[in-house]
Amino acid sequence: MATVGSIIRAKPDQHVHVIAPSATMREALEIMARHNIGALLVMEDGQIVGIVTERDYARKCILKGRSSRETRVRELMTSPVLYVGPDESNENCMALMTENRLRHLPVLDGEKLVGLVSIGDLVKDIISEQQFVIRQLEHYIAGGHG
Ligand SMILES: NC(=O)c1ccc[n+]([C@@H]2O[C@H](COP(=O)([O-])OP(=O)(O)OC[C@H]3O[C@@H](n4cnc5c(N)ncnc54)[C@H](O)[C@@H]3O)[C@@H](O)[C@H]2O)c1
Repeated sequence: MATVGSIIRAKPDQHVHVIAPSATMREALEIMARHNIGALLVMEDGQIVGIVTERDYARKCILKGRSSRETRVRELMTSPVLYVGPDESNENCMALMTENRLRHLPVLDGEKLVGLVSIGDLVKDIISEQQFVIRQLEHYIAGGHG
């Protein structure tokens, strides 16, 4: 089973998109739409102070009749943020996401932010791992004992 470190290295872009807590939710949505992503890390003075997602917007802004232009990210973000180290296994990350009902995990190597994994990244990794095993088994069944 892969580690999140190898999953991040396999991503086409390792850059983590972030936003300041003082930004508006509208600005956050514009960044998420521009990069086709569902979450932003909230950073202040180089520290992770929260995470804000499309779900936060839907449940804590729209459903509450609040305006995305007047609502600050710090009012909607989730904090503190659960994170993992680069050696964490995909399996454990899946369990963390399921237990805590979240879809994004920042990856920190010590204090350093080295990337972010989403549920889609983990699922994609598991699918490619399973396809590899299936090919191996098909090869074996076909008599390729080499
Ligand atoms: N084909 C792929 O490589 C791939 C990978 C991941 C997700 N997806 C698909 O995209 C859809 C939504 O994916 P999701 O639920 O995983 O969430 P998502 O839309 O937030 O994530 C999509 C991609 O953006 C990256 N991402 C998200 N937030 C980021 C940030 N702040 N900074 C940098 N990268 C960030 C994720 O790591 C992931 O690779 C799903 O349908 C999923 O299957 C496809």
